[in-house]
Order: sequence, then structure tokens, then C-alpha cells
Amino acid sequence: MPLLKTIAVSHHISVVIWKVDETEEELAQGIQLSHHCQTRFNGMKSGMHRRAFLSIRHLLAIYGYVDDDLYYSEAGKPHLKDGTHISITHSHNFTAIIIGKQQEVGIDIEMQREKILRIAHKFTPVNEYRTLANTEAVVRKLTIVWGAKESLYKIYGQKGLSFLRHINVTDFLFDDGRTTATIQYEMDTISYQISFLEFEGFTCVYAFPLDGNE
Ligand SMILES: CC(C)(COP(=O)(O)OP(=O)(O)OC[C@H]1O[C@@H](n2cnc3c(N)ncnc32)[C@H](O)[C@@H]1OP(=O)(O)O)[C@@H](O)C(=O)NCCC(=O)NCCS
Repeated sequence: MPLLKTIAVSHHISVVIWKVDETEEELAQGIQLSHHCQTRFNGMKSGMHRRAFLSIRHLLAIYGYVDDDLYYSEAGKPHLKDGTHISITHSHNFTAIIIGKQQEVGIDIEMQREKILRIAHKFTPVNEYRTLANTEAVVRKLTIVWGAKESLYKIYGQKGLSFLRHINVTDFLFDDGRTTATIQYEMDTISYQISFLEFEGFTCVYAFPLDGNE
């Protein structure tokens, strides 16, 4: 089981990241899917997606959960029946979950790709990136900002939330590994802690509300 990383963020928040290189048969062993998830699984055409989906059930098992402990909102947001917060991500052969015993949590893994340069203006003020040394640095930074906004979207989950207008990610240095972000939407102003790490051309970002928000 190639567990890439376990991060104990705090007493009640924890992240696990998996590099999926097992076969579907190997991953299916010992996994019992709920009716809802079995139906979804049966409809998945991509072998990588099926393996990622199964690997996440192994990540759940690390925390003592089985697939039946999980349910999804109509919008697709995952919840645990015991009230513990969870967020799920998969990108190519990497998958991860974040568990929050007391707070909402969000997580996102993205592959670092130059394609992000073309869509950056849709989710962040692009002039903020002019001082960066080279294209690679811009791609890395934009991927972190995108991952932060996706993580916050997974927590906040309001359909009208605009990545560009309603979410601000505070500038950061790569070595910091963390920053903050604020959602300002209608009557809400909520601040979040953002952490990020990079591995094998991928970026993982996770988020949770800063103390005092909730
Ligand atoms: C739903 C969304 C957040 C998923 O992110 P993604 O990068 O495509 O995919 P990821 O693998 O990281 O995440 C998928 C997981 O997110 C979770 N998810 C899906 N919908 C969700 C929602 N509404 N809220 C929280 N989590 C959600 C699920 O657990 C899903 O995995 P699973 O169904 O296998 O359990 C994304 O598709 C989305 O809609 N983003 C907002 C789009 C947007 O506003 N863009 C603005 C561009 S400027």
C-alpha cells in the first residue's frame, strides 16, 4: 500500500495522500461499496478513476471508516455519518483525504500544467505574478492558488461563489508551505488557513477555517 504521506495537521485534523500503483483487483480486495457508490463505480469508464475511487476507500479505513459511513449531498459533497468532516480529491494516480473532527476541511490535488496559464485570469488577478522568475514558477504558484480556491469551494460550497471575485489568497513564498485566504460572499467574511506541498509534478493544497471563525 503506497501511502505517500500522512500529515497530522493538528489534534483533530489529519491528511493522508496515496500514490496509486496497484491494480483494480488488488484495490478491490476487502472493499465493500454501498449501493450508491457501487452504482457510481459501475458507471466509471476510466480505469484510473476506478482505482482512485477504490484507493480512497482504503484511506477511509485508516481512520476506521468503511464506504457505508460515507454519504454524499445532492451537490456531490461527501459527509461522514458520525459528523466528522471529510474532503476527498483525486488527480491521475494521486488521491487524498482530509479529516476534520471539529472543523470543516477541504483538499485538492492538481497536476502542475502550463495549461493553467491560459485560464489564470478567470480565477486570480494575473498581474500579481509578474515578478516571478520563470514560467515554471508561475505555473507552480498558480496551481497552489487554484488548489486553495478549489479546497475552499469544497468547504463553502455556494453555487454563486466566484473564484476571482469572492476568494482572496494572501501572497506567499514557496518555502512557507502555507498562507491564508478569505472568502467574502454576500454577508460572510471567513478566513482560512491554507497549506500546500508539491511532489512529482503535483500540488496538494488543504484548507480549514482559522480559529475564531466558527
Ligand atoms: C466539485 C469540484 C470542487 C471537484 O474538484 P475537482 O478538482 O474536479 O476534482 P477532485 O478530485 O479534486 O474532487 C473530487 C471530489 O470532490 C468532492 N466533491 C464533489 N462535489 C463537491 C462539492 N459540491 N462540495 C464539496 N466536495 C465535492 C467529491 O468527494 C469528489 O470525489 P468523489 O465523488 O470520488 O468522492 C469541482 O469540479 C468544481 O465544481 N469546482 C468549482 C468550479 C468553479 O467554480 N470554477 C470556477 C472557475 S473560475
